[in-house]
Amino acid sequence: MADEQLRRRVEALRVEINQHRYRYYVLSDPSVSDAEFDALMRELQELEARHSELDDPASPTHQVGAPPSRAFAEVAHRQRMLSLDNAFAREELEAWGQRVVRGLDGTVPRFTCELKIDGVAISLTYESGHLAQAITRGDGRVGEDVTQNVRTIRNIPAWLEMASPPALLEVRGEVYYPVKAFEQMNDAREEAGQPRFANPRNAASGALRQKDPAITASRPLQVLCHGMGAVDGLQVRAHSEFLHRIREAGLPTAADQTETVDDLDGVWAFIERWRAGRHDPAYEIDGVVVKVDDFGHQRRLGATSSAPRWAIAFKYPPEERETLLRDIQVNVGRTGRVTPFAVLEPVLVAGSTISLATLHNEDQARMKDVRPGDTVIVRKAGDVIPEVVGYVAAKRPPEVEQAGPWRMPTVCPFCGSAIHRLAGEAASYCTNIDCPNRLFGTLEHFAGRGAMDIEGLGEKTAWLLLDKGLVGDVADIYRLGADDLLALEGFGEISVRNLLDAIEQSKSQPLERLLVGLNIRHVGPTVARLLARHFGDMAGLRAADEETIAAVNGVGPIIAAAIRQFFDNERNAALIDKLAAVGVRMDTDVSHKGTALEGWTVVLTGGLEGFTRDEAKQAVEDAGGKVTSSVSKKTSVVVVGSDPGTKAVRAEELGVATVDEAAFVHLLDTGELPA
Ligand code: IVH
Repeated sequence: MADEQLRRRVEALRVEINQHRYRYYVLSDPSVSDAEFDALMRELQELEARHSELDDPASPTHQVGAPPSRAFAEVAHRQRMLSLDNAFAREELEAWGQRVVRGLDGTVPRFTCELKIDGVAISLTYESGHLAQAITRGDGRVGEDVTQNVRTIRNIPAWLEMASPPALLEVRGEVYYPVKAFEQMNDAREEAGQPRFANPRNAASGALRQKDPAITASRPLQVLCHGMGAVDGLQVRAHSEFLHRIREAGLPTAADQTETVDDLDGVWAFIERWRAGRHDPAYEIDGVVVKVDDFGHQRRLGATSSAPRWAIAFKYPPEERETLLRDIQVNVGRTGRVTPFAVLEPVLVAGSTISLATLHNEDQARMKDVRPGDTVIVRKAGDVIPEVVGYVAAKRPPEVEQAGPWRMPTVCPFCGSAIHRLAGEAASYCTNIDCPNRLFGTLEHFAGRGAMDIEGLGEKTAWLLLDKGLVGDVADIYRLGADDLLALEGFGEISVRNLLDAIEQSKSQPLERLLVGLNIRHVGPTVARLLARHFGDMAGLRAADEETIAAVNGVGPIIAAAIRQFFDNERNAALIDKLAAVGVRMDTDVSHKGTALEGWTVVLTGGLEGFTRDEAKQAVEDAGGKVTSSVSKKTSVVVVGSDPGTKAVRAEELGVATVDEAAFVHLLDTGELPA
């Protein structure tokens, strides 16, 4: 790849990955399978590894999870909660094993093998034996305090069965929604006309993050513990010993699905055994976690910026089944993009029934050469999203062979307009901006949780509104009156009142939410926040030229071009004016430049728990201050983290004020030094 192309690819991957992470971790509503996500991450890791000049500490490859969302108090982890590196084949596992042995100067360590529970990571802190705090992983440094909810989980003891419990014991584990209960709950939701959860993991995450603990308590959540965090007053030499000890103390562990073995052959035997039995446990698994057992060995091996070197996750490939491809149909999304999908004879795969599967685009469908009437192989990519792998040649009927390859329709099935494919692009588009299906997607997205968050304006209501001709664009939502809504099927006084209230409330969503809702290409929550913070209001952003937008940290030329293109389109400009006219807010709370540190010169030294170095710098700048690298008499304050360098000493010599992380956070908000 040429340099410029390469840089663009890296940038596009980062944007896409960040958006997926936000959907996965914050919204609990992923739009791609784990396998697709892993593939994107791998591509980015490989590009960064091969072209170190493109690497960036802010890249998602160096981060774990996603920043916590706002609903719960944020708490810094005592020790970072790391992620795991993956292996997808035996060779990759062997390569990891060799690195481990090399790292231990030739010693072959013992390994503890566990199942990789597909749940939500949790950290449980016991102080003198009493459950004191439960925190989600968040971004690995700062998580959400979900203690009240976790206390309702039945298999978590409120105190430990130990004669003399340690002063501090942090245990890490996974919250999960048992598969059987999950299926029953989903069936019940379907009957009640509610959308199904995509998988048990999302259901667990949703249940854990309820604002009302009584709701969490009503869900059958369970926890399994699999790791040690910060401890004080507990002597253990190995991971297997730790698991044993906490089990004795009453904490749930997966003892029956855990084994400590002497070498990699033993590891492989464990992997093979559970490959066949992967659906046997009460929880979903997506692989096996292999850990070097001895804590001394673990310490010697250490960790990279995102994962320990002493552990690896082996991921099983998705399960596959054969079924009949009844038809290929197309859908039109909110960008007008036409997506072909397979209509299948329903088939049970990895615990749930598949009857539809996306074929992504014309090229993909033709490359797979699947045709109506074929017997096809389907699987759930990452055990979530159904996928057609290919057809079974031996089972293709002669008439299907004669019919020839499937072709993308030339007219849109929803509005009859031409379907067009741009040169050099894989996607096809319905050329009608007002295509009803497209408008539907637009509306649903605008009202969605990451955007204007209008509760009650879901799929069903969006269709009703379109069907009755009540809205022609998203601004029309704000012109709806009680009479319009009362005429809709299934709406009564109360539901109308609720919907109108929700619509009214959404008017005060900050600019970043509106930007997400406007469905600008490449503008997801992360980019929207950067833009809102930088420009402060819609007018500033609209007036900015492409270069100015591209210069915003984290944005870049591709996104800038897409944004400019959006605002230059007259219909979009008119839509924004219309939104402003009906009273939708056009600015943000994220003050684009605070004043707390105006005139301050700040020096950072040592590691901070809640910030990377770049984030700390950004935070100072956002508060109006400046970060410099060396301490002088002009320095206003030195922020001293863990393992500080000589700058802390220098500050003392010069009599410059120093603050720790907590005081730094206070300083950012208030501009005040502690007394
Ligand atoms: S050990 C330092 N063991 O998978 C990281 N993790 O993809 C140690 N997970 O963050 C993690 N089952 O939330 C470990 N038996 C197991 C696990 C497990 C599920 C989760 C965990 C981790 C994620 C990494």
